[in-house]
Amino acid sequence: MGTPHRIASESARPDPQAQAWQNLLCGGDDAAADLPLYSELRRETGCDGSFVLGRIAQTLDGRIATANGASFWISGPDDILHTHRLRALFDAVVVGAGTVQADDPLLTTRACAGPSPVRVILDTERRLASAYRVFAGPPRTLVMVADDRPGPVRIGTAEIIAIPRGPEGVGLDLAAVLKALRDHGLLRVFVEGGGITVSRFLAAGLLDRLHVTVAPLLLGSGIPSFTLPQALRPDDGLRLDWTLHHLGEDILFDIRLGRARPPTCC
Ligand SMILES: NC(=O)c1ccc[n+]([C@@H]2O[C@H](COP(=O)([O-])OP(=O)(O)OC[C@H]3O[C@@H](n4cnc5c(N)ncnc54)[C@H](OP(=O)(O)O)[C@@H]3O)[C@@H](O)[C@H]2O)c1
Repeated sequence: MGTPHRIASESARPDPQAQAWQNLLCGGDDAAADLPLYSELRRETGCDGSFVLGRIAQTLDGRIATANGASFWISGPDDILHTHRLRALFDAVVVGAGTVQADDPLLTTRACAGPSPVRVILDTERRLASAYRVFAGPPRTLVMVADDRPGPVRIGTAEIIAIPRGPEGVGLDLAAVLKALRDHGLLRVFVEGGGITVSRFLAAGLLDRLHVTVAPLLLGSGIPSFTLPQALRPDDGLRLDWTLHHLGEDILFDIRLGRARPPTCC
């Protein structure tokens, strides 16, 4: 674990994110901080100097929301606090257009001390209207759209960034999304949901780490957490290496995904 001394000495002029790390790792946030979990995240970087963490909260039967899109609340207050801490500790928070449509989230840091990240919305087809709360700043908001979808350069207070489409025209080229974020100085990227967005990053090999919180809840139906290419045999599946952490009544699976993702800097 990084000591308070090491963290403070990293920069002569501590930035707000460094303060957030210091608060958390020195117990200034609250006594419940799961120090081994966060201190490991502190120094992680991928092969290109950036670090991408995906996160999802699901029921025991693998749902992130009911069939009509209601997700408040799948997981308990400790997981909500964990999510806000991750926001404070990352440069950018990424969500899909489906999450903005369903939840109209603010994506700011409210449950703990620390800065709010830059908000990044993936909206390939420019299907979101300007009335959502993320389009009324601050904090800064970037909207990634397909480069063959011309339109205004802003939506509300948010800036539009054009990105090539992904393979076979599905979604956006996520390596290009990460490259665009790097070009804006955003190296620590937190992919907060929903299931389609996290699954696309996972399938593209672009996550360094995945946090899956499982709540003791069964819904019987609903929006799935992961939608991935089908494995025909168990051996063809993606076998994971995880560490468990208790978050109140929920369990967090902290999953290392290695450094398989291609560099986004070239
Ligand atoms: N439990 C949780 O942890 C959690 C977290 C977040 C949200 N939620 C819930 O999950 C539901 C939404 O999740 P979802 O899986 O349906 O949708 P989502 O991942 O939020 O958004 C999916 C949509 O976003 C756009 N998108 C996603 N990935 C993209 C990519 N790589 N490139 C370009 N665009 C991309 C696409 O929109 P276009 O088709 O327009 O391109 C796609 O259809 C809501 O009900 C929300 O309440 C739960």
